Amino acid sequence: MKPVAIEHLSKRFGGLQALQDVGFTVEQGERRAILGPNGAGKTTLFNVICGEERADTGNIYLFGTDAASLPTYKRTALGMARTYQITSLFPRLTVLQNVILAAQGLDQVRFKFHRSVSTYSHIMDHAEELLVHWHLWDKHDVPVPDLSYGDQRLVEIVMALASNPKLLLLDEPTAGLSPGETQSVVSAMTSLDTNITVLLIEHDMDVVFEIADSITVLHQGSVLADGPRDVVRQNTEVLRVYLGSD
Ligand SMILES: Nc1ncnc2c1ncn2[C@@H]1O[C@H](COP(=O)(O)OP(=O)(O)OP(=O)(O)O)[C@@H](O)[C@H]1O
Ligand SMILES: [Mg+2]
Repeated sequence: MKPVAIEHLSKRFGGLQALQDVGFTVEQGERRAILGPNGAGKTTLFNVICGEERADTGNIYLFGTDAASLPTYKRTALGMARTYQITSLFPRLTVLQNVILAAQGLDQVRFKFHRSVSTYSHIMDHAEELLVHWHLWDKHDVPVPDLSYGDQRLVEIVMALASNPKLLLLDEPTAGLSPGETQSVVSAMTSLDTNITVLLIEHDMDVVFEIADSITVLHQGSVLADGPRDVVRQNTEVLRVYLGSD
């Protein structure tokens, strides 16, 4: 079952065609970058795949399930998780508390705030394991506003991973990061379980070429190019329209 298969997706906002007949499929374990200039429709595409926006027309299959009319939480239950273009942490909580909140969302047992967090030991263990793997355990007690911006973006990825997704959608995870912070996101991404399928919106081409094995280029809501990374890289129309090169 392919993690993502979308067909003929279109989405209009008033007079603006944000997506126009967009289609592609993604294989298990594939790392696909979604490229395109500002306003190309990349975030709208994620919103439509996640169910935060409803497409006007088209089909969305997630792991073989017709998902186009499912609410977001049912798509999440199929194994999908995402991060946002803008940081979306709970600002009053520590790193560990944020990850626990994300992890317990999965749990059948409803979280009760009057019980001690430590009674949820399997959730604690899972959160600790993730933070250790992502080199954030030494900051687990830090309130998120006191983290560097780069660490905040890393915590967001850890939160998305806390639900054990099979499909991860990342919207510009390195936007606004220093070169060093960008490198730590890249190395964490390259050490991710290879069974996890990743869709990545990213403007930094060095990051794209390190992480992605395939690329879809959007331009004014339409797919301009699509295919293996090195084929798209050679596409002269992409170079002209997107990279502004002759
Ligand atoms: N909820 C909305 N209502 C109206 N217009 C919208 C809405 N969401 C997006 N748009 C418009 O749709 C177009 C595509 O927006 P989108 O955010 O998908 O672009 P993007 O490729 O993610 O751009 P960026 O690289 O700047 O993040 C833009 O012109 C945007 O202004
Ligand atoms: Mg965007």
